[in-house]
Amino acid sequence: MVIIIPQETLPFESKYWPIKKYLEFYKKSLEDPEFWAEEARKIDWFKTWDKVLEWDPPFARWFVGGLLNVSYNCVDRHYQTWRKNKIAIYWEGENYEEKVLSYAQLYREMNRFASILRKLGVRKGDRVAIYLPMIPELPMAMLSTARLGAIHTVIFSGFGAKGLADRVNDVQAKVLITADGGFRRGKVIPLKKIVDEALEIMPSIEKVIVVKRANIEVEMKEGRDYWYHELMNKAEPYVEPLPVESTHPLYILYTSGTTGKPKGVVHSSGGYLVYNHSTYKWVFDISDESVYWCTADAGWVTGHSSIVYGPLSHGATIVVYEGAPDYPAPDRWWEIIEKYGVTIFYTAPTAIRMHMRYGEEWIKKHDLSTLKVLGSVGEPINPEAWLWYYKYVGGERCPIVDTWWQTETGGIMISPTPGLDYMVPLKPGSATFPLPGVDADVVNEKGEPVPPGIRGYLVIKKPWPGMLMTLHNDPERYKETYWSKIPGVYFTGDYAIKDSEGYFWLLGRADEVLKVAGHRLGTMELESVIISHPAVAESAVVSKPDPIKGDSIVIFAILKHNYEPSESLKKELKEHMRKNLGPVATPDEIFFVNKLPKTRSGKIMRRVLKAVLSGAQIGDLTTLEDEASIEEVKKAYEEFKRVVSG
Ligand code: WTA
Repeated sequence: MVIIIPQETLPFESKYWPIKKYLEFYKKSLEDPEFWAEEARKIDWFKTWDKVLEWDPPFARWFVGGLLNVSYNCVDRHYQTWRKNKIAIYWEGENYEEKVLSYAQLYREMNRFASILRKLGVRKGDRVAIYLPMIPELPMAMLSTARLGAIHTVIFSGFGAKGLADRVNDVQAKVLITADGGFRRGKVIPLKKIVDEALEIMPSIEKVIVVKRANIEVEMKEGRDYWYHELMNKAEPYVEPLPVESTHPLYILYTSGTTGKPKGVVHSSGGYLVYNHSTYKWVFDISDESVYWCTADAGWVTGHSSIVYGPLSHGATIVVYEGAPDYPAPDRWWEIIEKYGVTIFYTAPTAIRMHMRYGEEWIKKHDLSTLKVLGSVGEPINPEAWLWYYKYVGGERCPIVDTWWQTETGGIMISPTPGLDYMVPLKPGSATFPLPGVDADVVNEKGEPVPPGIRGYLVIKKPWPGMLMTLHNDPERYKETYWSKIPGVYFTGDYAIKDSEGYFWLLGRADEVLKVAGHRLGTMELESVIISHPAVAESAVVSKPDPIKGDSIVIFAILKHNYEPSESLKKELKEHMRKNLGPVATPDEIFFVNKLPKTRSGKIMRRVLKAVLSGAQIGDLTTLEDEASIEEVKKAYEEFKRVVSG
């Protein structure tokens, strides 16, 4: 199915062109050595680069010799123009509280925040951990850290103490910014309390800054913990933005991979900002009139690029919403779009599917006519959800940009381009074509392109400016994970198909990474937490398809000999996961088994477990160590089915 919105209905100037036209432009971008230099001139540099790209495979260094400051690009350069009094942030609390910050106010607060960080000893290259709910202090903390040339690590505030401590310890942060608590569905999440628990195992943290948000009692340790508002009372009005090298890290963001330890993805300052500045124009047609709302949490890469750096580098107005999408009623999001006149709305398929279930009556209560572009990110969007989004949210007027990217890519890689003159007709469920300058392809294990309609691996054949620089403290793992599966190209870990017209269809992960409601979780990381419970001897975590969440978590656990399976133990284990890694990591099902299917070398065969769960063919099991254990897994599943259906 092909969707072409008639020119007279399209809410902006962009035109549809034959695919050929886009591909001509795209091909030129790949061949033009000046292409990214042209783009880089659109942001402000204290000193321009000597060399556009230094490519020492697999390490890319962009705009080498250039000096810039990211906070300067996102705030100062707008503050110095008419945008000074333009709205930078509309913030809405879950409890309907509101805060509006102009660029001048953001400038002032960011400078003051930077001055208190400096006073607490933060210097260039130091790591600052940010564990905050979605309040204006979150983007401000990121910008203030960048102003000093320090490196931020944002940790999703839904993570529990272990998730927080693992990340902080790996990055060796010395300052941590948190809040007393945050709101979610009317309940208070006691963030400072979680931090206190984690602090016992986070020795690198010297100072903790606490923002008062929930007004709850917290313990403050003299000399270590400081109230943000008290520090701000003594703040200085201006901090010089530190010019840093283009290749200086802007942030380290942890993401899940196929081993237990999360990976610290390191992003640069110059390449990252240039890439996001360009792609936010191409994909969203972002402009001075835009009111841009990305519903992601700033704890994920989408929040970094799509809430903070992409839109603010353009001087756009952003909406930041603190709470749940359906609280207090299922039309909360539609209400927010109407209230602020949102023009660009960016969310995840899992949320669209949830709203689909609530029904379009909730949308019809609101005037969404300000919308111009709708985005989707995080997982494949099924055509049914695409069409619903297109019809009811976009009023059959707004193009849907299905944007494929990853924490590692730093920004959007494959997407339609309403912000360019050339936009291809849309196909529901396809992210269409790679963006200019992005050399993506679908190949087999040997790196050979596969014919149209055949599933292969999505790879990127040339470096791009948003590309991660390395993994924190682990360049070997960086090489091994991304550049050695198929030699010479960047391995995304995703399956994809190209159709006969060359459109890309993304099919999800080819590895052991789960996408639960758009959140990226690694099976091994989940397993290492479940095994930390005293009752569990061994475990395997697999995903099961879920109509709303994409993947749901299923745990198979072998208990230690002195523990008996029981419903209360299941509950306790669920709570254990939730407490350590946060609500997204709560398993949907737990099965107690006596054995797990393993290969002869002792590796758990998760595909067997998955096959049992989905009733699919088990496939080639010749490497299985002990056939009986599949029967056992099947038996446990059958028993479980009886329990739920009976
Ligand atoms: C998946 C999120 C299909 C993919 C920005 C990728 C998608 C992983 C799409 C990265 C899309 C993201 N269509 N799949 N439009 N966007 N993915 O690091 O499997 O949280 O590898 O970054 O999400 O997840 P991450």
